[in-house]
Amino acid sequence: MSNTSQCRVCGGSVDEFFDFGRQPLSDAFLPLDADFEKEFFFRLAVGLCQECTMVQLMEEVPRDRMFHEEYPYVSSGSAYMREHFEGLAKRLLSTELTAEDPFVVELGCNDGVMLKAMAEAGVRHLGVEPSGGVADLAAAKGVRVRKSFFEESAAREIEAEDGRADVIYAANTLCHIPYMQSILAGVRALLKPTGVFVFEDPYLGDIVERSSFDQIYDEHFFFFTARSVQRMAELNGLELVDVERLTVHGGEVRYTLAPAGRRTPSDAVAELLRTERENKLAELATLQGFGASVLKIREDLVALLTRLREEGRTVVGYGATAKSATVTNLCGITPELVSFVCDTTPAKQGRLTPGTHIPVRTPEDFSATYPDYALLFAWNHAEEIMAKEQAFREAGGRWILYVPDVRIV
Ligand code: SAH
Ligand code: TMP
Ligand code: ZN
Repeated sequence: MSNTSQCRVCGGSVDEFFDFGRQPLSDAFLPLDADFEKEFFFRLAVGLCQECTMVQLMEEVPRDRMFHEEYPYVSSGSAYMREHFEGLAKRLLSTELTAEDPFVVELGCNDGVMLKAMAEAGVRHLGVEPSGGVADLAAAKGVRVRKSFFEESAAREIEAEDGRADVIYAANTLCHIPYMQSILAGVRALLKPTGVFVFEDPYLGDIVERSSFDQIYDEHFFFFTARSVQRMAELNGLELVDVERLTVHGGEVRYTLAPAGRRTPSDAVAELLRTERENKLAELATLQGFGASVLKIREDLVALLTRLREEGRTVVGYGATAKSATVTNLCGITPELVSFVCDTTPAKQGRLTPGTHIPVRTPEDFSATYPDYALLFAWNHAEEIMAKEQAFREAGGRWILYVPDVRIV
């Protein structure tokens, strides 16, 4: 508990409140013949900045180890998320992008799930995506992509080539980027004075309320709140002007930032700030309480899986999510407890989960012989998955959930 680090937003002192121990890279699925000795591990721990209240990882993983040609996560894997991003694109087109020849830039456009709609609408756009494989998928959809990390230098190059943007958008990407000063300097350089920077990421309020500790892994560096984002904006010539709570990915907030003094903040900002104050959200005692819930979930989940194994039941994991790396490595869930994990992502199939080396198979392997229990690692897609796997339940199968607590449903 004595560990501290320096805040990546304000330079203040960050107090550690939970240590997940030795963890692998959450998206580094291994080939079957991998040399396990060479697997990369780091210490996953999370802390709270005493000054600006930003919750963040204590240690940074070099970005090239995570985001590269083989980065396996594809955003279009969920039908629900496809709809979510199409809805957002439509809204931006009818609100922020109505001036003549508008220009929208997306950071971390992945396979083009959102920008496809902009391309189809004939709107000038650019996706900035360092992971080559998924960037190619976006290009194949007619999306204009720049294969690079977004940072200040990239922003200046884009501005020189394309001019300033009306909207800069990032979904589940800003929280991935420790070098926040460079990002916000880039946003300032690239955004029109009348423009907005909109980003949506997992919300610390939901993570604490649901004890969804598996949102914490190598790629998720920051855990935002209205308060910490407001402070981060202030320190960088920007202003938090709107917030919107979203239900996707287990609870997120969509933040809108504008150049300082350009727009009047909505009532929603004051309201969310008030709720956070009332809930004592970004206080060390609250976050230590969260840590205690994590330990309880670990104890209960390991006890349940151990009992099921002793009773000769079969358990399969559903969704080889990045989140599942935190759960399986924290709990020591190996193939003895969960025989395989099924997942729709081609780049994960036929490989082993990071750190715990559970085989990843296809959803067809799941339905070929239903297990007695399915441990739902992709709990943020529960509705979509349970609807499509109704036959599993009808065959007597049961789902195991572990947030907010360990339950069989
Ligand atoms: N926006 C998509 C993808 C989220 S995954 C969605 O919401 O589903 C995060 C993405 O951010 C990855 O595709 C990763 O390659 C990308 N990324 C990581 N660092 C980045 C940076 N500095 N600039 C732009 N994209 C980045
Ligand atoms: P996410 O929680 O980061 O969105 O990752 C979800 C993972 O679950 C991703 O690897 C795809 C997988 N998945 C399935 O296997 N089946 C599904 O129906 C859905 C929605 C996701
Ligand atoms: Zn800080």
